[in-house]
Amino acid sequence: MKIARFSRLGFILAAAGSAVGLGNIWKFPYIAGENGGGAFVIVYLITVFGIGFSVMIAEMLIGYMGRIDSVGSFEKLAPQNKSTWKLAGFIGFTGIMILTFYSVVIGWIFHYISVALVSLPSSVEEAEYSFTQLLQTGIGTQIFYHTLAFLTTTIIVIKGIKSGIEKMNYILMPTLIMILGGMFIYATTLDGFSQALDFMFNPDWSKINSETLVTAVGHAFFTLSLGMASILTYSASLPKKINLTRTSLIIVGLDTGIAIIAGLILFTFLFQYGEEPSKGPGLVFISLPAVFYEMGSMGTLLAVLFFISLAFAGLTSAVSLLEPMVQYLIDRYKYTRLSASLLAGGFFYIIGILALLANTKEYSELLTFGSRNLFDWIDFITASVLLPLGGLLISIFIGYVVPKEQVRAGLKSSMNDIGFGVWYFVLRYLVPPALIVVMLNLLNIFV
Ligand code: PFF
Repeated sequence: MKIARFSRLGFILAAAGSAVGLGNIWKFPYIAGENGGGAFVIVYLITVFGIGFSVMIAEMLIGYMGRIDSVGSFEKLAPQNKSTWKLAGFIGFTGIMILTFYSVVIGWIFHYISVALVSLPSSVEEAEYSFTQLLQTGIGTQIFYHTLAFLTTTIIVIKGIKSGIEKMNYILMPTLIMILGGMFIYATTLDGFSQALDFMFNPDWSKINSETLVTAVGHAFFTLSLGMASILTYSASLPKKINLTRTSLIIVGLDTGIAIIAGLILFTFLFQYGEEPSKGPGLVFISLPAVFYEMGSMGTLLAVLFFISLAFAGLTSAVSLLEPMVQYLIDRYKYTRLSASLLAGGFFYIIGILALLANTKEYSELLTFGSRNLFDWIDFITASVLLPLGGLLISIFIGYVVPKEQVRAGLKSSMNDIGFGVWYFVLRYLVPPALIVVMLNLLNIFV
C-alpha cells in the first residue's frame, strides 16, 4: 500500500502538533504544581532529554524503516521473530484508549471557549462550582462537546495525511505558537512573573518521592507522544531524505519549550492574583477563569485566546492518537480510510461517553472500580503503565533485536559514528533499566 508522504516541514509540524497538546498546557502545569514545582520540573527535563529524546529517534526509525502501520513495521524489522514482535506493534492501540478521555477534555475546552465569550465566573468558588457542575451533572453539555471533538478529529483523519493532518498542522501550530508567544510576552510584564520563575525553577527536593518519579517519566512519554506508535505511524510517511536526530531534537525542544512557557504564563497569572498553583486538574478550568475575570476586558480576550490555543493543541494531538489504529486497519485489513476512521472513531467516541459518565453523580458508582473511576483508570493505565511499557519495547527492539548494522544504516545520514555510539549506548543500557525501575515502582504504588 502506497503511503502519502509528509513534506519535511509538514512532518515536523505534525509531530510537534502531536507532542504539543493538553499534556503541555493543561497537564504539565498542574502536575508540576501538585509535585512542588522546581524539583519536578528538573526531573522531568532530565527524563525528556535523557530518555525521551533517544526513544523518539528509535520510534521514528521503526516507522521510517518499516514504512507501514505499527504492527507491520515491527513484523518487517524482525523477520525471525515476526509473531512475537508484531505484538509490540499493538502499542498503537494505547492511543485510541487515551483518545477516549482526551476527547472529553477537548470537549470541556470547547465549552470554556463559550464560557469565556459569554461570562467568566467572578470568583474561584463560583468557578469551582460551575466546573464541578459541568462534570457531575452536565451530561448533555459534555456529550455535545465530546461529539464536536470526535467529529473534528475524525473528519481530519478521514481527509488523510496530506490534506487532513498536514494541512491542519500548517494552520493550527503557527497560530498556537503566536498566541502563546503573545501571552508570554504579556506575562513577563506582570509582577507575578518572578514568582512563577521561582516556583518553576527553584527545586525543593523534599517533594520528590517514587510516585513523583513515576509521574515525571510517565508524563515525559505522554507529552512527547512516545510509546504508542503515533510518532511511529507518522514516521512511516517521512520523506526519504531526513535527519532523524535533528528532527527529533526540534520536536523535543518545541514540546518542552511550550510546556515551560505555558507553565510560566499560568503561574504568573495565578500568582498575580494570589491563587494557589496546586489545584490539580481543575487548575485551568477553575483558578484560571476566575483570574481572567479579575483582569477585566483584557482577561476576557486572554481567556478566549487561551482556550482556543488549548483546543488547537488538543486537536492536533487527537488526530495523532487516532491515526495509528486507522493506518493499521487500512494496511492490514484493507479498509478504506473512511470506514477505518469511522470504526476507530466510533470506538473512542463510545468509550469516551462512558469515561465522562464516570465523573457524573448519577453514574459514578457504577463506573468506579476500586480506588479510581473509569476516567481516571484510563488516564493512569495509559500514561503511567502502557507508555513506559511501549517505550521499553521500542528501546529493546532497536537496541537488541534489530541488527546493529541495520540500525546504523537507517541512521546513516542522521548521526556520525560518535553520536551513534552514544545514542546506542543510552538506548541499550540506560533507557531499559530506567523504565524497568519506573515500572517496578508502579507496583509499589499499586499494592
Ligand atoms: N503528547 C500529547 C500531549 O502532550 O497532550 C498527547 C499524546 C498524543 C500522547 C499522542 C500520546 C500520543 F501518541
